[in-house]
Amino acid sequence: MTPTTRTASEQSELVVVANRLPFDFEVLPDGSTTAHQSPGGLVTALEPILSRQHGAWIGWGGKPDLDLDPVTTDGLSLEPVPLSADEVNRYYEGFSNATLWPLYHDAVAESEFHREWWDTYQQVNRRFAEKAAEVAAPHATVWVHDYQLQLVPQMLRQLRPDVRIGFFLHIPFPPSELFNRLPWRRQIITGLLGADLIGFQLAGGARNFARLARQLLGAEHKGSKIHFEGRSVRIGAFPISIDSAGLSALAATPQVHAEAAELREGLGNPRKIILGVDRLDYTKGINVRLNAFAELLAEGDPSVEGAVMVQIATPSRERLDSYIRMREEIERQVGAINGNYGRIGSPAIHYLHQSLPREQLSAFYSAADVMTVTPLRDGMNLVAKEYIASRVDGGGALLLSEFTGAAKELKAALMVNPYDTDGVKEGLRQALNMPLVEARRRMRILRRQVLTHDVDRWAEQFLSVLDETRESLSPRISHLSNEVVASLTEISSTSRLLVGVDFDGTLAPMVDDPSAARPLEASMEALHTLAALPGTEVAVISGRAMADLPTLLGGEVGKLHLIGSHGGESAGKPELLDQAAKTRLAELTRTLQQIVSEYTGVNLEIKPAGVAVHLRQAGRQDAVHVTDAIENGPAAWRGVHVLRGKMVIELTVISTNKGQALDALKRELHASGVVFIGDDITDENAFAVLGESDLGIKVGLGETAATQRVADPGAVSEALGHLATLRRNAVVLSAGVAAGHED
Ligand code: ADP
Ligand code: G6P
Repeated sequence: MTPTTRTASEQSELVVVANRLPFDFEVLPDGSTTAHQSPGGLVTALEPILSRQHGAWIGWGGKPDLDLDPVTTDGLSLEPVPLSADEVNRYYEGFSNATLWPLYHDAVAESEFHREWWDTYQQVNRRFAEKAAEVAAPHATVWVHDYQLQLVPQMLRQLRPDVRIGFFLHIPFPPSELFNRLPWRRQIITGLLGADLIGFQLAGGARNFARLARQLLGAEHKGSKIHFEGRSVRIGAFPISIDSAGLSALAATPQVHAEAAELREGLGNPRKIILGVDRLDYTKGINVRLNAFAELLAEGDPSVEGAVMVQIATPSRERLDSYIRMREEIERQVGAINGNYGRIGSPAIHYLHQSLPREQLSAFYSAADVMTVTPLRDGMNLVAKEYIASRVDGGGALLLSEFTGAAKELKAALMVNPYDTDGVKEGLRQALNMPLVEARRRMRILRRQVLTHDVDRWAEQFLSVLDETRESLSPRISHLSNEVVASLTEISSTSRLLVGVDFDGTLAPMVDDPSAARPLEASMEALHTLAALPGTEVAVISGRAMADLPTLLGGEVGKLHLIGSHGGESAGKPELLDQAAKTRLAELTRTLQQIVSEYTGVNLEIKPAGVAVHLRQAGRQDAVHVTDAIENGPAAWRGVHVLRGKMVIELTVISTNKGQALDALKRELHASGVVFIGDDITDENAFAVLGESDLGIKVGLGETAATQRVADPGAVSEALGHLATLRRNAVVLSAGVAAGHED
């Protein structure tokens, strides 16, 4: 676990992790700092919720190399994560906005794939995860947002398995046909699956994700749950919204009312005002509406007679080539349209490349007769909802692209396909000519939807589903101490891992009849998962006869190494016993049969290199007598070795023990780290051979040379399941770092 230097009062119960803080900070030449609201829908949506809750918001301050201290405003603590100029270039502008952003938006622009960008994306995601691990209180809720931070859930889970992790993707989640282009596709899906709940804007996104988790990682998917590495991850659609009541109230103020009238006046009291409000982004289809308007003007269509278009575009990602090109193209288009159709003092299009204050935006929404929202692809589009919330007068018409998330909810809007120029023209014509009664009817339906589905409801729904996952929250580690989790985390990243486990009392709960012992299913599942991972070997090292182990393990051995007879037997080992040992074994067997024949409840287990005397079902007195007889008899014979376990004495005619076997296997497999888990006295030999970089876990009470302890076989499944998750993540990440790509 990451060491934290914070006291409990400096940690938060609810932590939001997003690429950006709600404010962009700027250091002025005099050294003072100013802050403006950050652009985009994520901040618009989250800011009002978080400012009502006392939580923490982890994010970047919006400029490279900003060294900001945490600040608390109105109970919300802002926790800055600094990014260097190089990181801004590779993680933010590069991988986030030139690889993922276009790919996730239907590849409407070409994505670039660069290994250095991916490396930095991983590094920065780790920094965010570490900050979240530091800021979150014990068992806190951590809500991670958007495509810039898709690896954070998994990284955070490794650091802080106690916290609940939600992830929400604000942009579309693409179909496999597009997503599979990503060289690091598996790492991204694995990163997201670290969350307890993954939310998407639409059900289609959740379906795309589940399909990919199945195809790429073999995860099981049933309904709203994905089962992966022994954990259950909830997925679902949570369409985001706005502070509907707040925006309605703002639009109803006399100031906004007056400003709207002034705007209309300032525009020359046009017959109709057509409005567009967007971040200046190629996904927004700004050119689509400009084209449609230009063509209607060119055709002299009566619907655009006396109409004015206002396009307000917030500057965005201004150093990226694709954005620079698009801005040039839009400004050229605006210039051409004004050149062709404007008059002195009354341009056809008013274009502002600016971010406006909320009140002014509200006035524009109130004044606009037609709102044009024509993205080629958009996760939701809050502008459409803001327009509706601002129409307190019940007027106005919304032209909406069917490729926005909002289109699924705002069915009463005029829907258009942004790729169909004639269709957009027709939509615009219809909106401009719409009879008042129809416009009001549509707006009534739209307002009902937006006012009843606001951002508070969205957050409540997401957080309450996340809360429901509490039950299933990391059940595997619920009984493990922090020390065990930390030791497992540490060893999971060793380059070649060997996991050794005992059978009875470790994989399988103790039972009276040794032949009835069966391993816990979850433990076997975890062992097979581990054994399938690269650089990872798993051995079951048992005192049982090698021949019995496959059946005891449930018939499926797969890639597991089996070592029986306390190390005496393993696959490919030459003949176990020489002639002298065979003779000694026969004599030993006969003598033990004589000793136990007088007692009931004492069972002999004949093994290839010895005999185990099971005393578990014998009476206490009988057990003492049998033990004495053995200790004073065959246990003292030359060439006979004794292993004393819990209610079992084993006599063997060879001298190997689990320690020797484990050590030999470690050398043979060139393991750089060993985890050994066992419960019995005979397992102490194995603990004794472990080195500094190894980990011994003792099951149950009693003296031990192991450094860690868990309670019972149930806790062993938890530890193995957690180790499987950690190891998989470590292997996947290091494969990504080493190869720079996935396959
Ligand atoms: P995205 O998140 O892709 O930017 P959304 O439509 O979901 O798209 O959200 C955009 C947010 O940015 C909205 O809250 C909108 O009000 C705000 N916004 C867009 N343009 C401007 C602008 N010129 N001035 C101020 N705010 C703007
Ligand atoms: C969209 C994304 C957000 C992002 C915002 C502004 O809303 O979903 O994650 O913050 O655009 O983009 P920017 O790159 O300026 O943060």
